[in-house]
Amino acid sequence: MRSKLVAGNWKMHGRRDMAADLLSALAPHLPSGVDVAVCVPFPYLDQAGAALVGSALHLGAQDVSECDDGAFTGEVSAGMLRDMGCRYVIVGHSERRARHGESSQCVADKAATALRNGLTPIVCVGETKEERLAGQTESVVSEQLAPVLALGAERVERLVIAYEPIWAIGTGLSATVDEADAVHSAIRGALGRVSQAAADRVQILYGGSVKPETAPALFAADDIDGGLIGGAALDPEAFLAICKAAV
Ligand code: G3H
Repeated sequence: MRSKLVAGNWKMHGRRDMAADLLSALAPHLPSGVDVAVCVPFPYLDQAGAALVGSALHLGAQDVSECDDGAFTGEVSAGMLRDMGCRYVIVGHSERRARHGESSQCVADKAATALRNGLTPIVCVGETKEERLAGQTESVVSEQLAPVLALGAERVERLVIAYEPIWAIGTGLSATVDEADAVHSAIRGALGRVSQAAADRVQILYGGSVKPETAPALFAADDIDGGLIGGAALDPEAFLAICKAAV
């Protein structure tokens, strides 16, 4: 039986005070029975790591270099993220694939580096509106996942995958439960071709305009193991309600 995970992605929002307020509004009120993480902007990871010592709220980052420490100006290594207290790191978010030209191979390399350094990568995949309308959703997701699944069973079994249809991100247009669950089930099938343990263990999160009102039905679906939450993660009341929906 897989546990559920709700991860908040703060994206490029906030300042030091907002980070402090949000963490103190969340940490004491987490429901039990669900894993909860916040993926904080790089500059506030140290502050968040210190604030969360002894808390059940896990810390994550929003990206990582595929390289180990070295002459890579502007990049952040997996070792640095571990040093900040991170447990999770998002890789391959559509905003990074689109803005920074990250290929699916680059995303797989980042996932491998994260794993090698003791982090759990949250690997994001998802189709554009045009791809969905053209009936290409499953083939697009399958191509995005191919280099990740090629990492082999031992590594794949330690991943988290997030299905985030690009047309649902920040638009208020969530995928329906049926739309999301169909893709999650296809991803589960692909994991099963790597190993039965991968299919059984890997948490597949849904992301894209999840709200307290939509979370209960999404999280009740067989193959939806929680959520990757953007906008609603900046509102402690909404984020805690989404976490409670995963219990
Ligand atoms: O990483 C989170 C996703 O991009 C979802 O963002 O909840 O604002 O649609 P959203």
